[in-house]
Amino acid sequence: MNNNKEVNIPRRSFIDYLLGGSILALIASVLYPTIKFIMPPKVPEASQSSVKAAKVGELAPNSYKIFRMGTKPGILIHTEDGKFIAMSAVCTHLGCIIQYRPDMQHVWCACHNGHFDLNGKVISGPPPLPLEVFQVNIVGDEIIVSKKG
Ligand code: FES
Repeated sequence: MNNNKEVNIPRRSFIDYLLGGSILALIASVLYPTIKFIMPPKVPEASQSSVKAAKVGELAPNSYKIFRMGTKPGILIHTEDGKFIAMSAVCTHLGCIIQYRPDMQHVWCACHNGHFDLNGKVISGPPPLPLEVFQVNIVGDEIIVSKKG
C-alpha cells in the first residue's frame, strides 16, 4: 500500500497560480503603504478635564481668550463686571469656533449668525443646543478651567 498520494497538478496551472500569487503580493505591497500614508493617524481623544486657561490679569474686562481643553477649544471670558466665565468654543450647529462680542457682551458664532448668552444658552440663530459651560477656579494667579463632573 502506498501512502504517498501524488497530486497531479499540471505544470502550466502551477506556474499560473505562482504568477497570480506574486502579482497579488506585489499589488498588496504597493497599496498597503499607500493607503496607510493617505489615511490620517488615529489620535486618541485626550481626556483632559482641567487646564490652566490664563493668568489673572492677562485678560482685560470685557474681553476673551481661546484656550485648549484637551483636543477642543474653549473660550474664557472676562466680563465687564469682573467675572470669569468659560465654556466650549465649538458651536453646536456645525462646529465653528465661537467668539465673544464685547459690543454685544455675549457669545457669537460668525458662521451662521448664532448667538449664545453667557450661560451658553442659545439666544438666536440655528444652533440646536447650548454650549457646554465649564467651571472656573482661581488658584493663586492661575485661572483653572474644569469640566463639570
Ligand atoms: S456653525 Fe455656528 S451658527 Fe452655524
